[in-house]
Amino acid sequence: MATSFRRALVTGASSGIGEATARLLAAEGYAVALLARSSERLGQVVEGLPGTGHHTLICDLCDSEQVERAFRELGEHWEGLDLLVNNAGLGYRARVAELDDGLLERLFRTNVLGLLHCSRLALPLLRQGDQPVVVNVSSVVGRRGIPGQVAYSASKAAVCSIGEGLRIEWAREGIAVCTLDPALTATGFFEAQPNPSDLPHPSLERASGPEMVASEILKLDRSPRPERYLRWKWRLLSAISVFAPRLSDRLLVRSLGDGWSAPLR
Ligand SMILES: NC(=O)c1ccc[n+]([C@@H]2O[C@H](COP(=O)([O-])OP(=O)(O)OC[C@H]3O[C@@H](n4cnc5c(N)ncnc54)[C@H](OP(=O)(O)O)[C@@H]3O)[C@@H](O)[C@H]2O)c1
Repeated sequence: MATSFRRALVTGASSGIGEATARLLAAEGYAVALLARSSERLGQVVEGLPGTGHHTLICDLCDSEQVERAFRELGEHWEGLDLLVNNAGLGYRARVAELDDGLLERLFRTNVLGLLHCSRLALPLLRQGDQPVVVNVSSVVGRRGIPGQVAYSASKAAVCSIGEGLRIEWAREGIAVCTLDPALTATGFFEAQPNPSDLPHPSLERASGPEMVASEILKLDRSPRPERYLRWKWRLLSAISVFAPRLSDRLLVRSLGDGWSAPLR
């Protein structure tokens, strides 16, 4: 069982799921380090947090020097880290035929390389932590590729794969590694993602709020699990994909609409 005072680093804490997580953890008595690029936004979030001992780390995860500097800064404040939430991420809504090299690189640098870099640099601090936990925020589309978001879903598949390997690599160190697969969540994610040909966004009417995802992150810290899907329908779809990919394609196309069609051969 986790102690009540814990030190957590949340990446992508300036908005959406990361911000909601920082707020919830602070309300639960955690000291929170909030990492993102936007210093103004991070300043506003940290100002509104209850409790003490919070820090902001202004950092672009695409820049390895900035990431190293952020962890040096964190090490000056804390001798250990109990929870790392690798949440920062970027979407990319585009067909493969229209992918742009620069955007593709930014996507993978943020969603995959940034997460690996943070995990590696956090390790010495996690070793000094109390029942340390890592939560990697993937997505339901990390377990089932999706048209119009092939690059994004591939980056999230990489996050799922990292979780599978890392939880065994770090098992002997006593560090629990969890993968969280949120489904549609109402945040600024959809506005922030590049979408060069205006592919339709999903309706957020039935989306979860970021607070719900934050509460799942807290639950994982208290009771770690290897992987947690937040929508059973997607879990089923990804399981069907392994044994009956054609059926999975048909079910996905039916649920997406948007003019996609299942492969004819
Ligand atoms: N919303 C959904 O439907 C949904 C569903 C499944 C999974 N997810 C995943 O959930 C995570 C959080 O997304 P969200 O919905 O909360 O979106 P969001 O509101 O757009 O938040 C993204 C966060 O990541 C930070 N970020 C982006 N690029 C960064 C970079 N290069 N360096 C440092 N920080 C960076 C942003 O801060 P700055 O711009 O200030 O840097 C922001 O705080 C992402 O990994 C996303 O893939 C979202």
